[in-house]
Amino acid sequence: MRKNIVAGNWKMNNDLAETKELLGHLKMQLVKEPEAEVMVAPAFTNLYEAFQTLKSTPIQVIAQNMHQAKSGAFTGEVSAKMLKSIGINTVILGHSERRAHFHETNEILAEKVNAALENELRVIFCFGEELEDRKSENHFNLVEKQLKESLYQISEDNWKNIVLAYEPVWAIGTGETASPEQAQEMHAFIRNNIADAFNDDIAQNVSILYGGSVKPDNAAEIFAKEDVDGGLIGGASLKAVDFLEIVNSF
Ligand code: PGA
Repeated sequence: MRKNIVAGNWKMNNDLAETKELLGHLKMQLVKEPEAEVMVAPAFTNLYEAFQTLKSTPIQVIAQNMHQAKSGAFTGEVSAKMLKSIGINTVILGHSERRAHFHETNEILAEKVNAALENELRVIFCFGEELEDRKSENHFNLVEKQLKESLYQISEDNWKNIVLAYEPVWAIGTGETASPEQAQEMHAFIRNNIADAFNDDIAQNVSILYGGSVKPDNAAEIFAKEDVDGGLIGGASLKAVDFLEIVNSF
């Protein structure tokens, strides 16, 4: 059975003091047995503090990115082993901001996915089309290409460590959300595509999150769709009440 997951992507927000404050609120206000796996992704500098603060709670601390190499002359980068060494077990890869601002191609992302899996990290793999792709009705092709070129090289066994996050770029941080029907249509397409490329068992068991302007007032109707298994939340994850309302939307 696939799991419901709500993950907060804090992006480049919150210094140490702000991180401690938000973690404190989350820890106090989270219901005892949430209906979803709950994750937060603070900046690298605050991961250790966050992990230590939340380790006795159901909230998992995850990373926003990592480098594909084991170690070496890559100034400014962080490896999978470094993340593991401070207790981090999950990493977000392929976020559209990484693709757009840091030139992460499908090829680089395939290397990152492989490196994460080799290090027994679970991967939240993000992908999704730009507005022009949707307008020209190329969005299904584009999404299939992103999946094929970065993810379909993995073994069947590794799918247990994959979570997908469909994030249409036009809906990220814009206040514009895909309609629940648009999300469902794409999620069903993705699941069918995985069933064709691998098998139905894998397709049925992988969690597919939706990301892009999910808020407390639209989360329930998006999460209610059959093939939507939760969300990757940006802006609304920076306020504990909003994030937890989204967590409680199942
Ligand atoms: P948003 O960001 O919720 O602010 O649109 C989503 C994301 O970037 O994952």
